[in-house]
Amino acid sequence: MNVYLNGDYLDDSEARISIFDRGFMFGDGVYEVIPVYGGRLFRFDQHLVRLRHSLDAIALKILITDEQLTDIFNQLLDGGTDDASIYLQITRGAAPRNHSFPATQSPTVLAYAQDLVYPDEAQRNMGVRAVTQPDQRWQRCDIKSVSLLANVLARQYAAEHDALEAILTRDGYITEGAASTMFMVKDDQLLTPPNGHAILPGITRDLIVEIAAANDLECNEVEIPEQDLYSAQEIWLASSTKEVLPVTVLNGQPVADGKPGEQYQQMIRLYDDFKQRFRQGLTA
Ligand code: PDD
Repeated sequence: MNVYLNGDYLDDSEARISIFDRGFMFGDGVYEVIPVYGGRLFRFDQHLVRLRHSLDAIALKILITDEQLTDIFNQLLDGGTDDASIYLQITRGAAPRNHSFPATQSPTVLAYAQDLVYPDEAQRNMGVRAVTQPDQRWQRCDIKSVSLLANVLARQYAAEHDALEAILTRDGYITEGAASTMFMVKDDQLLTPPNGHAILPGITRDLIVEIAAANDLECNEVEIPEQDLYSAQEIWLASSTKEVLPVTVLNGQPVADGKPGEQYQQMIRLYDDFKQRFRQGLTA
């Protein structure tokens, strides 16, 4: 696979970073995952804004411009018009091991393009299984940090319990999935937790909220008690790689009648339409 590493394009087998890279030593870095449809970077401006927010929040100063990042991604995509996804990781670079920042920082920038693995039709049509888990992460989940150990452990718990995702709860309220945003329908109302330090501001989440507003579907951004999950009409998961998926089994019990709900069917149609128009260059 062709990767970009600190100014060079090379095969991943040739790519090398220092064992003292702070991404490796401390998880001191941030990342983005950007879907590409028909060769176009999806919601690219929003991903760049979130990347800059993450970099600022950890005081990682980097001279790379948005134009340079765009060039790198386009080189990796090599003029292709296929669907793909870009992975970008920026760490604080290599320095002798010391928790505080080195006096001079030379960040490590890694990017590569890979095939987009779509949710399969069965997952959309039948729904997926999820479990709940305590949210053991830190207090700045709005930063898309590569320090993902708590997410890894929650997702592993889900995998060991035959589930696709773990829905995280903190102090009796839902935060989000281990690597997705959570939506719920209750009393016919679409609900999702508010953006803030407790969750990642999901790009897919914000698009769903936007699509809902444009189609007179009310979406309330409110704190959701964990207890409400068990009387939900619908539960969805949203992310750049999952797009929107219905959860039909939670902790081994069916969600409502155990089938994807009406609001989900409507949203996935609107979401697919939006993607189709984007592919055709009809929308940004
Ligand atoms: N993760 N919340 C968390 C904790 C996530 O890791 C992700 C995405 C999301 C959804 O964000 P978006 O809609 O911008 O993809 C929410 C990516 C896909 C990953 O880690 O691979």
